[in-house]
Amino acid sequence: MPRFHIFPFGCQMNRHDAEALAGRLLQDGYERAATPEGADVILYLTCSVRDHAEQRVWSHLGRWRAPRTSGKVRALGVIGCMAERLGDRIRSRMPHVDMVVGPRRLAEVPALLERVLEGGGAFVEVGGPVVETGEQEGCLDPARAARLNAFQATLPVMRGCDGGCAYCVVPRVRGRETSLPPEEVERSARELIGRGARPGPMEITLLGQNIDRYGFTLEPKTTLAALLRRLAPLPGLARLRFVTSNPRDITDDLLRAIGEFDNVCPYLHVPAQSGSDRMLRAMRRGYTRARYLDVVRSARRIVAGVELASDFIVGFPGETDDDFAATLSLVKEVEFQGAFIFKYSPRPGTPAARLDDDVPDEVKRERHRILSETQLAISLRRNRELIGSEVEVLAEGPSKRDPNRFTGRSPTGRIVAFASQDDPTGRMVNVMIEDATALVLLGRACCDASSCAKHGCAT
Ligand code: SAH
Ligand code: F3S
Repeated sequence: MPRFHIFPFGCQMNRHDAEALAGRLLQDGYERAATPEGADVILYLTCSVRDHAEQRVWSHLGRWRAPRTSGKVRALGVIGCMAERLGDRIRSRMPHVDMVVGPRRLAEVPALLERVLEGGGAFVEVGGPVVETGEQEGCLDPARAARLNAFQATLPVMRGCDGGCAYCVVPRVRGRETSLPPEEVERSARELIGRGARPGPMEITLLGQNIDRYGFTLEPKTTLAALLRRLAPLPGLARLRFVTSNPRDITDDLLRAIGEFDNVCPYLHVPAQSGSDRMLRAMRRGYTRARYLDVVRSARRIVAGVELASDFIVGFPGETDDDFAATLSLVKEVEFQGAFIFKYSPRPGTPAARLDDDVPDEVKRERHRILSETQLAISLRRNRELIGSEVEVLAEGPSKRDPNRFTGRSPTGRIVAFASQDDPTGRMVNVMIEDATALVLLGRACCDASSCAKHGCAT
C-alpha cells in the first residue's frame, strides 16, 4: 500500500486536520512513511495567516519537483488555507502538484487521492458550501484521528470565522462561521474518552477560531458555557481546554462555567492584538482597551487561579510610537502568562490590504523585540513565583532536550520538565517546582507515580 507523509503548518486546527486525515488514510489501508523521503504520497496542510508561512510551503514544494516528475513520489497535495487562497495559481507555479484542496473540502481528500494514484490527473477543489451540521462538515471523524498519544485530543467544535478582523485572511479562506451541534461534540468526546488506551486521564482541547461564539449560529442557539457544562461532567475527562477566545464575546456566564469545574482548565488564550484604541478600531476588533481590561478583571475575579495568554500584532498600518507604547503598557499592566507576538503581514483580499503597509520592517522588528523581551521578563518572574510549590502535570513523555527528565503541562498550559523515578507518561503527576526559565518550569515528581496514594497519580 502507498506510504504517506503529512506536513502540518500553522494553527492547532491544521494539526488536528492532519491527524484526522492520517487516521482516515490508515483506516483505508495506507501506511505511514518513516521519513518524508520514503513516502509515495506527500500532503501539506497549509497556513495563509502570514506570508512567511506560505513562503515556507513554496520552498518545500520546489524540493519535490524532481521526485514527483520521476515518479518516485506518486502524489503531492496542497490542502488548507493556502490552497483556498491561491487555487489554480499553485499549479501554475508548481505544475507537479496533483491536488489543491481547500479547508472546506478536506473530507474529499481520500477520494481525490485515490483518483490521482489511479492516474486520474490533477484536481483543484476549493470553495464549498456554508456547512450547517456536522454531517455535511468538511472534517473527518475527529474520534478516529491518528493522534500523537492516547491521552490528549483536539476536537474542532466550529469551522470558519465571521470575526472580520481587518488583517486576517481566515474568514476569507475558511468561510462562514459554523458550529457543530452539541450532541455531536458530546458523542465525539465520549468516543475519545472511551478510546483512551486504558482507564486514565484524558485531556480534550476544543478548537474554534473564535470559540466564544460557539453555538450562535445553531438552531436552537446555544453557548460555549453550556457546552462546557455538558462536557466537563463526562466520566474520565481529566482536563477540558478550549481556544481561541475573542475578548468581545467573553461573557461572565462563560467565566462562571470555567470556574464551576475542577477539570476545566483555568486558562484563556484571549488575543488583545493591540493596546491602542485607535489600532483596535482600525483592526476592527470590536472592543476597546478598557473593555479588554474589564474582561481580564472579570476573569480574575470569577475564575480562581486563571492565567491569560495573548497574541499581539506589531506594525499594523498607521501604528505610531504612541500606539506601540499603549500595547507595551497593556502587556505590563495585565502580566500575561505568555504571549505570541507577530509582525504585521499584509494579506491580499483582507480589508487591511488596502491600507499602506507604512511601518518600516526595521521598526516592526524593533517593536517585536521590545515587546517579546518585556513579556519574557514577565513570564520569567511569574514562573519563578511558583518555585517551591506543587503543580499538577499531565505527563506527555520523555523530554527531547534532557533524557533525565519528562515533560508535560500544568493546568494553565505551562510547560513543566521534571525528574521522575518511573515513567509517568500519560498520568497526572504532582511536580515540586525547583527552578524556572521564562518558558519552562523545572522540578521533580513529588511521588512515585505508580504508587502514589497522596495524589491519585496512579489512576
Ligand atoms: N482566531 C484564530 C486566529 C488566527 S491567526 C486562532 O484560533 O488562533 C493567529 C494570530 O495570528 C492572530 O491572533 C494574530 O495575532 C496573528 N495574525 C493574524 N493575521 C495576521 C497578519 N496578517 N499579520 C500578522 N499577524 C497576524
Ligand atoms: Fe481572524 Fe479575527 Fe477570526 S483574528 S480568525 S478574523 S476572530
